[in-house]
Amino acid sequence: MKKILITGGAGFIGSHVVRHFVNKYPGYQIYNLDKLTYAGNLENLTDVDQKPNYHFIKADIEDAELIMDLFQREQFDGVIHLAAESHVDRSITNPLQFIHTNVLGTVHLLHAAKTIWHGHYEGKKFYQISTDEVYGALGDTGLFSETTPYNPHSPYSAAKASADHFVRAYHDTYGMPTVISNCSNNYGPNQFPEKLIPLFINNIKHNKPLPVYGQGLNVRDWLYVEDHVEAIDLIFHQAQPGSTYNIGGNNEWRNIDLIKKLIEIMDRKLGRPAGTSLSLITYVTDRAGHDLRYAIDASKIREELGWEPKVRFDEGFEKTVDWYLHNEEWFNHVTSGEYEEYYQKMYGNR
Ligand code: NAD
Ligand code: DAU
Repeated sequence: MKKILITGGAGFIGSHVVRHFVNKYPGYQIYNLDKLTYAGNLENLTDVDQKPNYHFIKADIEDAELIMDLFQREQFDGVIHLAAESHVDRSITNPLQFIHTNVLGTVHLLHAAKTIWHGHYEGKKFYQISTDEVYGALGDTGLFSETTPYNPHSPYSAAKASADHFVRAYHDTYGMPTVISNCSNNYGPNQFPEKLIPLFINNIKHNKPLPVYGQGLNVRDWLYVEDHVEAIDLIFHQAQPGSTYNIGGNNEWRNIDLIKKLIEIMDRKLGRPAGTSLSLITYVTDRAGHDLRYAIDASKIREELGWEPKVRFDEGFEKTVDWYLHNEEWFNHVTSGEYEEYYQKMYGNR
C-alpha cells in the first residue's frame, strides 16, 4: 500500500497521470491536489473519480500551513508534482503569479515533505515534473542533454528552473530522495485551448484566424501525453535519488509545418475541400523572447529505463484531433467565462 500525492492532477498532463496511476495501481491510494485554476478541470477525470483509490483535495500549493497539515495527516510515501502555471504567454503578462505557484508552491511542498519525512526516506520519493524550456533555446542543430546548463528565457521557464534548483538543493542539502524529469511539448486530449494545438483546432473549426507567431519557424519536439505518462511511471518507480531524465518525442516540427499538417487533417475531417483553412493563417507579432528550437536527447531514459515513445506522431495527432472534435461539451465548458476575456486580451478581435 502506497499513498501518492499528485499535484495539478486536474490539468492536462496531471489528469492523464492520475488516470494511469488509479487504474494501473489499485493498491495505491492516489490523492489529487489541485487548486482548480482556469486550467484545472475535474471533468478530465470523470472516468476515475468514483474509484475507491482516488481522492480529490481542492487546495492551493501556496498555502504552506494547509500543505504541512495535509502531509502530517496523510503521511504520503511519494509526491508527483505537476501543479504549475504552465503557459509561456501568460507568464509574459503576469510573471509574479509564476513565481508564487511554480517557485514558492514547490518549496512549500518540499518543505512539508522534508519536515514530515524527517530523515526517514526509505521508500519515499519527491518527483518534480519539469520542462525542456529550462535549458533555453537551441540553434539549428544540437540536442538538450541532462548536463546542458540551465539558461531559461521566459518568466515561465525561469520559474520552473528555479523550482528545479530548489528540488536539487533539498536532495543535496537534506538528502531528500528527489528526481526531476524535463520533457518536451506534450500533445493529446484535455489540453487547455490556450496552447498551440487545441487553440488552432478550435479556431479552424470556427473559421477563426490562426495567429502564427513571427514567421512560424520555431521548432518544437512533440510527444504524445500518454508516452510522457509511461515515462513518469518508470521514473517514479525506478529512478535513483538525485537523478534527472530528459524525455522527448524525437519528433521535431517547425510550427508552420505542424499547422499545415493540422489544417490538412481538419479540412478532411470537417468535409472541407483540401487547403480551405490555409487562408486562416495569420502571421502576428512574435512572442517576446521566443525560443527558436527545443530538441531532446532522450538516450539516458532509453538506455537506463528502457523507455521510448510508443505512439507514432501521425496516429497520435489524428487521435488528438478526433478527441477535440468529439468532445465539444468539454471544449464549450473550458472556453466559457475567463477564456473569452483571455482571448480578447491576447489576440484582440482577430
Ligand atoms: P496545466 O496548466 O494544464 O495544468 C496545471 C494544473 O495545476 C491545473 O490543474 C491547475 O489547476 C493546477 N494548479 C495551478 N496552480 C496551482 C496551485 N497554486 N495549487 C494547486 N494546483 C494548481 O499544465 P500541464 O500542461 O498539464 O503541465 C503540467 C506540468 O508539466 C507543469 O509543471 C509543466 O511545467 C510541466 N510540463 C508541461 C509540458 C507541456 O507540454 N504541457 C511539457 C513539459 C513539462
Ligand atoms: O517544451 C515544453 C513546454 O511546452 C511546456 O513546458 C509548456 O508548459 C507548454 O506550454 C509548451 O510551451 P510552448 O510555448 O512551446 O507551447 P505553446 O503551445 O504555447 O506554443 C508552441 C509553439 O507555437 C511556440 O513556438 C509558440 C507558437 N504559438 C503558440 C500559440 C499559443 C503560435 O505561433 N501561436 C499561438 O497562438
